[in-house]
Amino acid sequence: MDKNLTVAIIGCGKFSPNFVPLFKAHPLVDKVYVCDLLPDRAAAVAQKFGVEIVGSFEEVLKRRDINAVAIFTQRHLHGPQVLAALASGKHVYSAVPMASEVEQCQQIVELVKKTGQTYMMGETCYYYPSAMYCREAYHAGSFGKFVYGEAQYHHDIGHFSQEYRNDLLNAGLPPFYYPTHSTAMILSAVDSYALKVVAFGYEDQEDDQIYKRNVNQWDNVFSNSYSMMKLANGGTARINECRRIGYKAPSSYVSAFYGTEGAYQFSNAQHLLTVKAPQGVTLTDVSARVNPVAMTEHADDPEFKQKVANHKWQCDNFAPIQQADADRLPASFKVPGFPNGHRVQFPKVGNAYAARPLSKSA
Ligand SMILES: NC(=O)c1ccc[n+]([C@@H]2O[C@H](COP(=O)([O-])OP(=O)(O)OC[C@H]3O[C@@H](n4cnc5c(N)ncnc54)[C@H](O)[C@@H]3O)[C@@H](O)[C@H]2O)c1
Repeated sequence: MDKNLTVAIIGCGKFSPNFVPLFKAHPLVDKVYVCDLLPDRAAAVAQKFGVEIVGSFEEVLKRRDINAVAIFTQRHLHGPQVLAALASGKHVYSAVPMASEVEQCQQIVELVKKTGQTYMMGETCYYYPSAMYCREAYHAGSFGKFVYGEAQYHHDIGHFSQEYRNDLLNAGLPPFYYPTHSTAMILSAVDSYALKVVAFGYEDQEDDQIYKRNVNQWDNVFSNSYSMMKLANGGTARINECRRIGYKAPSSYVSAFYGTEGAYQFSNAQHLLTVKAPQGVTLTDVSARVNPVAMTEHADDPEFKQKVANHKWQCDNFAPIQQADADRLPASFKVPGFPNGHRVQFPKVGNAYAARPLSKSA
């Protein structure tokens, strides 16, 4: 296989260091550069991963030897940067969101069609177990026609870093300017899109100045937003994005998914499927398929639910529902200890990520 990508990673903040080793190890990537407005950040990442620095985003756009960019800048900067990179002839990956304006999303789609280049939005929750389970079961026909679903991204602002919260110009981003962790789960499961949306916001009442007029750059006062979406397939989705909420894990999840023939429901570590039967429904506990293997292995822990609620075992390894997609990863990623994204590591010893028998139900 020919290596044909030279990738410049734009933004060396908290998230992109997870991706530098992934791009470096990818069989189609020849060379990786890093770039940040803050030279110290670029230098630290370059040193840690043994890659070269490129001076600025503008320089990247001019360089003919760099044919791909991966954008990990702050959320509201993506749209114009993706457009500029596509216009200069690069393939583009960006962290979510794609853009903050509908018109920018439309322009990105148009530019991809016109140029034939690739744009990918890296929505990680597309591969979260509950989204994958609903997608699989829906396509297998378990639910019949989609009727109604609920998904949410709950990430309390108190769980963000102090540095993030101190950045009062940017921290109070309107929740629906960053909606993809929740929308991706239901929309990808049913392969549809929203025709109409109504939404309400919770006007923040805390005194940390994050969601205040004349403080953040959007004059946004809402820390939580809740929406109802009428989908093109006739179903309805309730999608929430909450940043002030007494809840921790999992951050993004499908809590309910109903069809004409069956339903999925989730709470803490319990995932239930019910399917219409001649008299009532047949209930199957599918938790062991949807929870990460490490979580299932600890189902007898006396503080199991407490620990799950605090994010324990969530990112330790794969869930069985993820196995088929994990198998698609390049061989260079299936190395013991390799840092796969959100702290997911292949086991340090033994047969990489081979599925283990699941005897316990969570
Ligand atoms: N699960 C997920 O999908 C997930 C998780 C975390 C973060 N993210 C996304 O990743 C992105 C980055 O998040 P983060 O926490 O690392 O942000 P960050 O604020 O820590 O880092 C962003 C960096 O981009 C740099 N930057 C901005 N404009 C630049 C430019 N023109 N040229 C070069 N560098 C520039 C900044 O100096 C900063 O160092 C965000 O869009 C966020 O939404 C996604």
